[in-house]
Amino acid sequence: MSSKTFSVKVESTVPCEGQKPGTSGLRKHVTVFQPWRYTANFVQSILAAIDGGRREGCTLVVGGDGRFYMQTAVQIIIQIAAANGVGKLVIGQNGLLSTPAMSFLIRKCKAEGGIILTASHNPGGPDGDFGIKFNTSNGGPAPEGVTNAIYEITKTISTIRHCPDLKVDVSAVGTQQYEVEGRKFVIEVVDPVEDYLKLMQEIFDFDALKKQQSGSLKFVVDAMHGVVGPYAKRIFCQELGAQEDCCLNCVPKEDFGGHHPDPNLTYAADLVTLMKKGIHGFGAAFDGDGDRNMILGKNGFFVTPSDSIAVIAANAKCMPYFKKTGVKGLARSMPTSGALDRVAEAEGLEFFEVPTGWKFFGNLMDASRLSLCGEESFGTGSDHIREKDGLWAVLAWMSIMAARQMSVEEILMDHWGKYGRNFFTRYDYENVESEPAQQMMTDLRNKVSTETVAAFIGKEFTEGDKTYKVAKADDFEYTDPIDKSVSKKQGIRIIFEDGSRIIFRLSGTGSSGATVRMYIDSYESDKTKFPLDAQIVLQPLINIALRISQLRELTGRQEPTVIT
Ligand code: G1P
Ligand code: ZN
Repeated sequence: MSSKTFSVKVESTVPCEGQKPGTSGLRKHVTVFQPWRYTANFVQSILAAIDGGRREGCTLVVGGDGRFYMQTAVQIIIQIAAANGVGKLVIGQNGLLSTPAMSFLIRKCKAEGGIILTASHNPGGPDGDFGIKFNTSNGGPAPEGVTNAIYEITKTISTIRHCPDLKVDVSAVGTQQYEVEGRKFVIEVVDPVEDYLKLMQEIFDFDALKKQQSGSLKFVVDAMHGVVGPYAKRIFCQELGAQEDCCLNCVPKEDFGGHHPDPNLTYAADLVTLMKKGIHGFGAAFDGDGDRNMILGKNGFFVTPSDSIAVIAANAKCMPYFKKTGVKGLARSMPTSGALDRVAEAEGLEFFEVPTGWKFFGNLMDASRLSLCGEESFGTGSDHIREKDGLWAVLAWMSIMAARQMSVEEILMDHWGKYGRNFFTRYDYENVESEPAQQMMTDLRNKVSTETVAAFIGKEFTEGDKTYKVAKADDFEYTDPIDKSVSKKQGIRIIFEDGSRIIFRLSGTGSSGATVRMYIDSYESDKTKFPLDAQIVLQPLINIALRISQLRELTGRQEPTVIT
């Protein structure tokens, strides 16, 4: 293989404001990333945060969800990585890699980490968002210690090392070799689907799933023009033999077709409408980078993500992977409903409640204490990788349906019959002005602080014929059981005597203003109430939450933007 020689240029720079990574990487409006210095500063800071000895000659994986500006960012990363001693970049063909596939590739290549170019479920295009996220060598999102180190560097950065003449064609699979001031620099462009497909074939029984496809189950998946399209077509159509028309919006687009690539009842409304026609027995949607999923049954029967992970955990033995590894422990993010807690209790499994954000599951998995976990925000996954995994969740559901020969609704009814039902809803108030949103959180925090909480505990709130008495309230704090790191201020919790919970937190992934998230969770053991609509059952608690927080008065918002 012949290699071309490039020289390093040391460019002077000044820090860019606001490069603190949020819940999931640095996410901003595309126009913020477009000035070269903004993106280059952040990429240089990521590389500088890797200890010099480990960075020299290391492998990094690079890819993203195909959104607008990704191609430019890929080239910037190549130029900066080459000049900072990185030995090899593994890049998805055309820059594409779903977040779960990226997580797997980092692990498979024993890479030092990976740089994911995505703003997940946020809209894309020239008027949309862009994002850069760093994952560490375990394949998971960088923990706070690492993101804080990156942020500190962004505040004092003064030089960027890059190879401005190095331009790499990433459209064809294969290896290219370059020389950068006497050192070897390799680019390996890989098929984004191949390795991930093999992993799925190890986890699931593809023969059983193939049989299911040729049987009576009609299903449909909606990739919302995100990166999942090529994965879905390959797995469902080529490998499992499903008809092409089961894959909707499966061509990745830079602007996701102008839509919000977020698989929920509001933004995936077209799929919901289609499912309501009653033709399909199973439907699913994914977000831009393929880590989120929404599961629907016949006639649009909606499975809350909190229930989805509980059902998968209770039926883990339907999947060869868990037959082999067993289930080590279960975990959910704090605002996720308590449905999973009941499965853990019934199965005698270790259970963890962590703050919002997938990064909090990684340590537990690395320590072999956690197998299955989920977040109410349409995140479901296991220890096969260190990210949530939309396609994995769909294959898990299909496996359960195949093994149990039941419909989605029957599986849920059976599950609730055994464990009871946690009714759950989340209200999102997007793009609220920052100040009143902060004010609301401060007021709530003052109610539940250690000094004042005694006066709040025991308070009764009545709505109609329902009265709820406060049993516990706090601002959630988490100590990682493995590395003992402490994460404070993770959300206001108000827990009532019957176990019902109201939770408030501000989003850490928004790109402008504030997004208030209000979560309501209530347990019901009365079978006659299981088929009821969550919005009706939870109405008294919703009203109480609005009263306690003064959300309407403070933010001026009467109705949420999205209800899940
Ligand atoms: C949101 C979700 C959270 C998820 C994250 C990344 O974060 O609530 O569960 O891990 O996106 O997908 P938030 O905007 O609430 O900070
Ligand atoms: Zn995502």
